Order: sequence, then C-alpha cells, then structure tokens
Amino acid sequence: MASLIDNDIKRAGEQLALMSERFDTAAVTPRSWENGTYKLLPKDWTCGFFPGVYWLYYQLTGDKEMEKRAMEFTARLSDVPAIKTTHDLGFMVFCSYGKQYEVEKDSVSAAAVIEASNSLISRFNPQIGLIRSWNFGKWNYPVIIDNMMNLEMLFWASEFTGDPKYREIAIKHADKTMEHHFRDDYSSYHVVSYNDDGTVESKGTHQGYSDASSWSRGQAWALYGYTLCYRFTKYDRYLKQAENIAALIMNCKTTPKDNIPYWDYDAPNIPDEPRDASAAAVTASALLELQDYVSQSLSKVYFGYAESIIRSLSSPEYLADKGDNGFFILKHSTGAASLGSEIDVPLIYADYYFLEAIKRYRELKY
Ligand code: GLY
Repeated sequence: MASLIDNDIKRAGEQLALMSERFDTAAVTPRSWENGTYKLLPKDWTCGFFPGVYWLYYQLTGDKEMEKRAMEFTARLSDVPAIKTTHDLGFMVFCSYGKQYEVEKDSVSAAAVIEASNSLISRFNPQIGLIRSWNFGKWNYPVIIDNMMNLEMLFWASEFTGDPKYREIAIKHADKTMEHHFRDDYSSYHVVSYNDDGTVESKGTHQGYSDASSWSRGQAWALYGYTLCYRFTKYDRYLKQAENIAALIMNCKTTPKDNIPYWDYDAPNIPDEPRDASAAAVTASALLELQDYVSQSLSKVYFGYAESIIRSLSSPEYLADKGDNGFFILKHSTGAASLGSEIDVPLIYADYYFLEAIKRYRELKY
C-alpha cells in the first residue's frame, strides 16, 4: 500500500501542476471534463473542491507552490459565503476556506466560514425543522441526503464562535433526516420534501435511478454525514446510524469485487452500467474516520474495506495517466446518469475525497 499511496500522491502532484497551469489566469473552477471539454462553473456546488484539492495536496506534501495555488484558487470564491440560494455552502466554503483555516489559521478564512454558516442557517425553517436544500424543482421544501455534508461547517462554526445556534440547527437537521430519509434497510432516499407544517410531502430521487432505488453517492453522503455528526456530538444514535449505513454499503450485492459501486445500486443494466468512483472515495474517507469510533473487530472491517477502495482507485483502471483525463486524478465517476449528465467522467469531488482518504489512511498507518 505504501508504494501505491506514494504513486497516487506523485500522480496527483503532476495532474494538479498541469491543471493549475491550464487555469492560471481564468477565474473558473473546473468541475469535470468530457470529450476534451471542461465543465467550468465558477459558483456552483463543486467550486470549493478545486481549491480544496490543492489544500489537501499541500497538507500531504508541504509543497509551497501548491499552497500558493490553493490560496489563489480559494480567493476566487470571495463572494460565495454570502450566497443564500442553496444549501451547498458547506461543500463550497468549508472545503475551500475551511481547509485554508485548517492550514493557515487566518482571520480571512475564518470570517468566510462564519459568513457562510450564517447564510446556511438562514435556510433553516424552525416550523419544518430542516435546512432547505434547493430553490428549484417541483417540491414544496426539498431536503436531499447530500445536505448532511454541509453540517460539518455548522458544527465547526459553533466550536469556533462559542455560539451554539449553528450546532443546534445541525442536530435538528440530522435528527429529522434520520427519521424520514431512510428505509428499513438504512438505504436512503435522495430527496424528501416537506409540507409547510413539517409533515412529509414526498420521498424520491433526482439523481438516482428511481424513487425506490439507492443512488450510490447518496449512501456515501449519508455515511460520511452521520460519522461527522458523531465526531462533534458523541451521540450514540449517530454512531448507530453510521454503522448501519456502513453495513448497507459494504453488503451491497451489486457492487463489484473492487468495491467501486455502480452509479446506483439498483441501476437497471448492471453490469453494463457506469461506476461512480466519487461514491467510493467518499465512502473510503468516511470509513477511515468511523473505524476510530467502533469496536476493534468492526474497526478492522471498516479499515479493510476503505483500504480495498483505495487500492482499486490507485490502479490504472481508475488513476489517470500523467497528462490525461483533463488533468483530473481519478477516472470513472458519474454525476447524474438519470439526467444524462456527467456519465463516466472525472469529477473534482472524487479527487477531493480520494486525497482526503489518502491523507486519513497515511495518518493512521505511517
Ligand atoms: N451534491 C450533489 C451530488 O452529489 O451530485
């Protein structure tokens, strides 16, 4: 594993250097790459991952040039913390300014994260008891499982400011999500929408195969989300939830032996369906945290599963050759196959969670 990881970091450095040359002056954040064309969306939900991968690489290597890049790419997002039209503030700001604060402990990044946390809690409706995810679509009050990821920033904001209001909202959100987003087998719906009185309007999907199916990345967001809730609260109910979701993921019958799932566990044409390396990377990173909170025997199982994902993603099947894959690190992710979008492509967040998983793995092993 040590030599695989060394090779991953070397390849990441090569790709990130090429990517930063390519986007040196343009104020954009690359999200994916398909048929030789970049998807560049400066202020969408993925914009924080671009600086984030440079921060992670800097943390892995101490490469000062990459630190400079990370700082420059983060500064491109200076107006993002004020956005109030989406729940994705955690992804956008905690993976960029939040990482900057982790490294630099500077007041600019701390202020950005607090501003973003205020923007995010402005989307909490106390009557409903949840943060609203999207402003678009057919739903009255949509909440998506991905939203669990944005709670990390709120927990952090309470610890940083000493003001419990962020944490209290995060806990309310996590509790109500736990009540309504999960089926009996701990698989998760993608979108649950609520009526104004807080009752459920509908349960279904947007990016998954069907309302009854298990969209792979959604299961990974759920696992990561309840693991981080346990980190900040030590509430047993969150640990139990994370353990149950981990069991669902690891026991999925349709996931191939390399532990990289198809884009949806129930996609109709398995094995002729695209994989989602991003779901696997998020899962690996989450399990490497969760293994720290559980019994020794379970810990070994989680660690082994995470290790097998990292091993697969480090193989030539998933790890890009130098200069290929639009300079992204991983191949074979899927954004939203159900919408005909980003099918079997590189995705910036797959790279982000892959580097985070490698960082966690290395900290545990070496
Ligand atoms: N948060 C959107 C996605 O996972 O595609």
